[in-house]
Amino acid sequence: MKVGIDQIGYFTPNKYVDMVDLAHARNQDPNKFLIGIGQSKMSVADATQDAVSMGINATLRYLNKINKSKVGLLIFGTESSVDQSKSGSLFVKSALKLDPSVRAFEVKEACFGLTAGLMIAQDFVRLHPDQTAIVIGSDIARYGLKTAGEVTQGAGSVSLLISSNPRILELNEGHSAYSEDINDFWRPNNSKLAKVDGKYSTQVYLDFFKHTFNDYKEQKNLETKDFAAIVYHLPFTKMGLKANRIAIEGEDEETNARLMDSFTAAKELNANVGNIYTGSLYLSLLSLLENGDLKAGDLTGLFSYGSGAMAEFYSANVVEGYEKQIDKAGDEALLAKRKKLSVDEYERIFSEALEDPKNDVELVSDEDSGKYYFAGIKDDIRQYQAK
Ligand code: HMG
Repeated sequence: MKVGIDQIGYFTPNKYVDMVDLAHARNQDPNKFLIGIGQSKMSVADATQDAVSMGINATLRYLNKINKSKVGLLIFGTESSVDQSKSGSLFVKSALKLDPSVRAFEVKEACFGLTAGLMIAQDFVRLHPDQTAIVIGSDIARYGLKTAGEVTQGAGSVSLLISSNPRILELNEGHSAYSEDINDFWRPNNSKLAKVDGKYSTQVYLDFFKHTFNDYKEQKNLETKDFAAIVYHLPFTKMGLKANRIAIEGEDEETNARLMDSFTAAKELNANVGNIYTGSLYLSLLSLLENGDLKAGDLTGLFSYGSGAMAEFYSANVVEGYEKQIDKAGDEALLAKRKKLSVDEYERIFSEALEDPKNDVELVSDEDSGKYYFAGIKDDIRQYQAK
């Protein structure tokens, strides 16, 4: 049976900081951020956009194209959760007016959360081919002002519809997973900002990539040259470039050129949005589908990494006519609509967004790109409103 990605929707808030401005404000050479880290811009979420509202906005990008009554599962992957108990899925389900029979819950394993959801959804659809599953990854990456990780922040969400007979990517059965209990990046309950051992985290990422990529090829009897493209979790685009260089080392010229070209296409959106944790790999996949040169049947490898740490490599084949399912113009408009913040404005918005909301203080959104926003709390209950 064919199971895979039928729809992809993404959302990012309507504000950004330019990395050249940030470099000047932090007394750094702009090329360190642009080339050394590989980021051009980063999206900034104000207090009115959180993981839930962004997840709703991402799913709304394709909701009118699908049969809502077929959705049987809704998984919300995040590490920017808004409640310790209630799942983000229930807020989303309510906003999207999905059927009460939908099984809805949240999953967490750092940036691996959306992939975890996707794997569960894939099994669900194989058992229930007449139903579909929505899987959302939604996060705000916050390391703190003037930290080494600041340039690798971002905000956004990616939502996938998993179905039988998918119209974008057909997932291949099997995967290579690898995990270890380590402390490369984490966020304790008493902190709104991530803690990170930055250099160590980049090393573990590459070690896990080598492990899962080599293991997957061995399991499936594949060679690197069999892949038309490989997409990576991109906390910043230089990270994926380093992994891609490992993948193509010692390969022939043609394979080298193809996998470097596809990587260039796949990093475009991420370089302009920043790290969106759970959604980053799938934002890169969307970028590849929009900017790359894929043909029906092409084999694409996907490397998912979540700190703590858990990684998985798997693959999918491109479906004929996938272009018709992608809203490239809409995706470009989302970026074009963003307002450029000065570094002072960004610092103020960043600090305000970290404050706990106060009961009965209504938040007013200036969001022109998202339909839903977080409007504050009443009796400690979060309120989401449509514009
Ligand atoms: P840093 O201190 O800025 O690092 O921290 P650096 O001084 O080594 O510079 C970075 C690169 O810029 C180097 O290149 C420099 O040579 C280069 P590299 O050796 O890496 O190829 N550079 C320049 N290039 C051009 N022109 C110049 C110039 N100057 C320097 N003038 C670090 C960088 C990534 C560690 C930091 O930003 C950080 O801690 N980020 C957050 C952690 C992170 O993203 N880790 C990634 C792996 S873990 C992961 O992916 C999971 C995660 O998404 C979370 C989750 O799972 O939930 C993070």
